[in-house]
Amino acid sequence: MGKIQDKVAIITGGAGGIGKGMAMAFVKEGAKVVIVDLNEEAGQDSIKELKQYQPESMFIQVNLAEHDKLKDIIGQVIEKYGKLDILVNNAHASRNKPFLETDQKDLDLSFDTGFYPTFYLMQAAIPHLKETKGNIINFASGAGIQGHATQTAYAAAKEAIRAITRVAANEFGKDDINVNLIAPIANSQGVQEWAKAQPEYYQEVVSKIPMQRFGELEEDIGPVAVFLASDESNYITGQTINVDGGSVKF
Ligand SMILES: NC(=O)c1ccc[n+]([C@@H]2O[C@H](COP(=O)([O-])OP(=O)(O)OC[C@H]3O[C@@H](n4cnc5c(N)ncnc54)[C@H](O)[C@@H]3O)[C@@H](O)[C@H]2O)c1
Repeated sequence: MGKIQDKVAIITGGAGGIGKGMAMAFVKEGAKVVIVDLNEEAGQDSIKELKQYQPESMFIQVNLAEHDKLKDIIGQVIEKYGKLDILVNNAHASRNKPFLETDQKDLDLSFDTGFYPTFYLMQAAIPHLKETKGNIINFASGAGIQGHATQTAYAAAKEAIRAITRVAANEFGKDDINVNLIAPIANSQGVQEWAKAQPEYYQEVVSKIPMQRFGELEEDIGPVAVFLASDESNYITGQTINVDGGSVKF
């Protein structure tokens, strides 16, 4: 028996990066994983890998910025599996810019792909999560918690996600729904591309992480997500778990 055996989990952005790392960790602990992602090719490739552990995994191709399609994602999952246990709101796109140059388009990109999908998917999922006493895992960032320079749009959307996570934890604690956040640092494809493009800056960032490395997608972030998705974390809600090699401390 896995730690989340036969639980049904949606992971947005599960075709790559941390999302895929969590998806692999989830199927190895017995869950049925639904990957929701923009990237059709990467999504289909990921599903092939997941199916080696869990034949009932599924891919839904969608642009999460198209908010009128979000309710239907939950509908499709309920139709196929008859229930939903875990919602992981992981996908988020954004671009860095100096504060004074940040414009409406930058704010829209970050809120449209990060904040709004998290909010609308939570709204659509919660009635079903009440039935399973389910779990929600949202994604925060040290960029928001600490206010990293040049990350205005991203930091704002991430802190808005933290705010609604705490509100939902307070409203749905009585229903035994756990709503928590992971604030990660991990070696995703985006990070790898950036490391190649700006190796000196990358080394500088690594040197500031107390553990002196970026986290591994499946091995470092995956088990924490499994814990927050499992019954082992039943008395934890509204919390931000920093899985970042010791970078954020408060
Ligand atoms: N990697 C890090 O060090 C780090 C640090 C802090 C926070 N985070 C957060 O962790 C989460 C995962 O980060 P990552 O580095 O793995 O990201 P990533 O960019 O490597 O992967 C994101 C995934 O989301 C998908 N996606 C992007 N926009 C989408 C859209 N509009 N609709 C559907 N799918 C879309 C992409 O196709 C991709 O598969 C994000 O919320 C990110 O903000 C990451």
